[in-house]
Amino acid sequence: MPTPTRPSVGWIGAGRMGVEMAARLARGGADVLVGNRTRAKAEPLAQYGAKIASSLSELAGRDIVFCMVATWKDVRQVMQALLAGSAQPRLVIECSSISLEGSAELRALLAERGIDYLAAPVSGNAKVIKAGKLSFVCSGPRKSFDEALPLLKLIAPAASYVGEGELARIVKICHNVFLGVVIQSLAEITVLAEKAGVPRHAFLEFLNQSVMGSMFTRYKTPAFVNLDFKVTFTPELLRKDMDLGLEAARRFEVPMPLAAAARDLIQSMMGRGMREEDFARLLVQQAEASGLRLQPENVEVSDGLS
Ligand SMILES: NC(=O)c1ccc[n+]([C@@H]2O[C@H](COP(=O)([O-])OP(=O)(O)OC[C@H]3O[C@@H](n4cnc5c(N)ncnc54)[C@H](OP(=O)(O)O)[C@@H]3O)[C@@H](O)[C@H]2O)c1
Repeated sequence: MPTPTRPSVGWIGAGRMGVEMAARLARGGADVLVGNRTRAKAEPLAQYGAKIASSLSELAGRDIVFCMVATWKDVRQVMQALLAGSAQPRLVIECSSISLEGSAELRALLAERGIDYLAAPVSGNAKVIKAGKLSFVCSGPRKSFDEALPLLKLIAPAASYVGEGELARIVKICHNVFLGVVIQSLAEITVLAEKAGVPRHAFLEFLNQSVMGSMFTRYKTPAFVNLDFKVTFTPELLRKDMDLGLEAARRFEVPMPLAAAARDLIQSMMGRGMREEDFARLLVQQAEASGLRLQPENVEVSDGLS
């Protein structure tokens, strides 16, 4: 039974991120009903006590509905399906990485119906979620953040409130522009070190322990060393975020030369057919451009997460 301390929750989206986030919520004891376009991807969540819906309109009667899909176009579609009937949630928490404009349009659409809305994008991939290290950045009414916080804490240890409206969106966009620039820079320096004779695992071991090391450089190290590019985040989704960053840069008149170059290198990688693997494959493109044929080093290295 839903109570003020245990609201009923609807969860839209069981992709790479959504399925892991919903799993933590259900395992934490929340009453969760999950809807996903491809139902089979949501079904494993039943083992944690989540219920699986056959259509998104079933989720409308829940107190709080989370959404984790892909682009603003997809968010709009799933919201239309959610709100097609007469039932409606009290609060929507939207976690996909979308534009400021899309987020504002969603806020207006929900406000017309008297539904509160928290923008709550995240930092971290599926492995980071499993390791309990995801972070949320949230904006919207403070009271909605306070209401959502116990649920957010079941999913992630960190949830920052940055203010009203769509401010969380620009924070997340800035974060992912940094991700794109950092991965390209990491690829460049790793290839430079290797061409000069330093094995990748040795170079990255030093870097990870230096002031320049981070959770991100550590968890990308196994991919760089052993060339395992099983996707965590697609080049296409990263390009979307670089484009969102560059659109915002034009709107606010901020020159972003590094971001523009990184965006085009991601585009080049996609044009060469590297679309379905992890965005860390930028390393391979950089090696090819440097006349270096990479081989897996087959060295066991830590990802810093487990
Ligand atoms: N992966 C990461 O490391 C990461 C990190 C932080 C933030 N993000 C952001 O989180 C979001 C999800 O990323 P992801 O990696 O989990 O993507 P994903 O694996 O591609 O999952 C996308 C989800 O959205 C659903 N979906 C997409 N279009 C839809 C539509 N038109 N109607 C209904 N459902 C639709 C998919 O349903 P189906 O299962 O039916 O395809 C799937 O559940 C993106 O905005 C991404 O930028 C990703």
